[in-house]
Amino acid sequence: MPERPTRVVLVGFMGSGKTSVGRALARRLGYGFEDMDRRIEERTGRAIADIFRDDGDEAFREMEREEARALVSLPKRVVAAGGGAFTRPLTRALLQEGALTVWLRCDLERILARIPADGSRPLAGNRDIMAALLGEREPFYRMADVAVDASAGTPREVAGRIVGLFDRRNRKRTSARR
Ligand code: S3P
Repeated sequence: MPERPTRVVLVGFMGSGKTSVGRALARRLGYGFEDMDRRIEERTGRAIADIFRDDGDEAFREMEREEARALVSLPKRVVAAGGGAFTRPLTRALLQEGALTVWLRCDLERILARIPADGSRPLAGNRDIMAALLGEREPFYRMADVAVDASAGTPREVAGRIVGLFDRRNRKRTSARR
């Protein structure tokens, strides 16, 4: 039986497919799926955009940290992290605890095409703003255990790439033990 991490945390920029790939991966692994943003919305009864507008960025980051803390005790989960979660050291450390972290690497064109202009993502902006934010965040996303190309393919295909990575990691581990 290949060893699989009990929690897989998907990180990456908004629009990189964390939610859709996360759902597909959870189905494939027989795990539960948790979306950090949806958990915050359910817990507070408020939309993310309203939290940013009324309470500000820092208050949202604190809520995100509390979600990350709650997730540490949940086994067999695929977690979609919010796009800024991994940039915060404490939130990142909590998300990393006992989990395999996966960066869904996605090019800017694909990201811009996927993000709806409906105001649901308060930090989304024009191409220059998004390019600058992506540049600032990439060093943090690189801290994930593995990176997977999420620019092309259906969510199921990207989920399949992630499962392929586990299996390759397991094979490497097994051959290292011999
Ligand atoms: C954010 C990304 C959003 C959400 C919030 C802030 C960010 O999550 O957490 O709007 O800082 O990049 P998604 O990456 O799921 O869009």
